Amino acid sequence: MSRLIRWGTPYKLGHQEIDLQHEQIIQRLNDLHGHWKANATRRQLTGCLAELIDATVGHFRTEERVMVSSRYPRYQSHKADHDAFAGAVLAFQQKFQAGEACFDDAFFDYVSTWLRNHLIASDRPMGRVICRKVPLGVKGRKAATRLRP
Ligand SMILES: [Fe+2]
Ligand SMILES: [Fe+2]
Repeated sequence: MSRLIRWGTPYKLGHQEIDLQHEQIIQRLNDLHGHWKANATRRQLTGCLAELIDATVGHFRTEERVMVSSRYPRYQSHKADHDAFAGAVLAFQQKFQAGEACFDDAFFDYVSTWLRNHLIASDRPMGRVICRKVPLGVKGRKAATRLRP
């Protein structure tokens, strides 16, 4: 089956939950693309698209929760990027369901390009900040040092 995006090291942030969600989103996008290429039924495509959207919207909620709890300074612009993408894909879903839009190369180019760019330009810098907020941070290390005999 064709792969629009290949999951791999450049996309890994080192945050277990978010890395797993990113991998699942990429799998679902590749799955949708593969079904489209294989002339799947409208019903199958509807199901694949719904799975991709569910995974993506759920993932955005996770990232936004983690950004807020980490006091990530670029939260607002990052969330705006999520909202714009979710809005575009949900609008496509509505049109597809109404028979006013169909899958084409432009749709898959848009989704795969946005995902690649967002993973590298937005999620990676976010990952560097949120992954430093692990329980044993600077304070934890200092505390551990003080506890040494
Ligand atoms: Fe993400
Ligand atoms: Fe993100």
